[in-house]
Amino acid sequence: MAFAFRLRIAAAAAIIGAATWGTAFAQPDPAQIIRERREGLRAVGQHMEAIVAIVQSRGDARSAVPRVEAMQAFFTTFPGRFPANTQTGETRALPAIWTDAAGFTAAYNGSVAALGNLDTSDNPLLRLI
Ligand code: HEM
Repeated sequence: MAFAFRLRIAAAAAIIGAATWGTAFAQPDPAQIIRERREGLRAVGQHMEAIVAIVQSRGDARSAVPRVEAMQAFFTTFPGRFPANTQTGETRALPAIWTDAAGFTAAYNGSVAALGNLDTSDNPLLRLI
């Protein structure tokens, strides 16, 4: 009796342990990954629009720096935002992202390099302001 009781406790503990393990190591929901990458890209779009407005109004170039840094931080995480299980769903991502990894990496590297140029204080674009 006591043994059977202990066995049941052990079984319960194993189940709770497995559930905890499962939660701790659960992969994020693909729909959530898609949502977050789209939100991030929308934010990048808003930062770019704001920077264009600063340039056009010949505003303070320094006020663009936090926006550039926010975009850089987002793009640091960018390549990891396209796991294979996020090709379908509420996404406009083209299949080429998964079939043409070299093209995707080239486009990504180009954007990162362009943002790096924007961030330098002696950047000719910012000097135009
Ligand atoms: C300054 C640079 C960029 C801006 C302003 C920008 C802006 C945007 C915006 C506004 C969206 C729509 C988000 C939505 O669905 O609501 C988008 C989608 C997307 N962009 Fe860009 N983007 C930039 C750079 C890039 C780069 C470098 C790549 C790839 C190398 C890229 C790949 C994508 C993809 C795959 C989507 C579709 C995401 C999805 O629906 O799951 N973008 N972008």
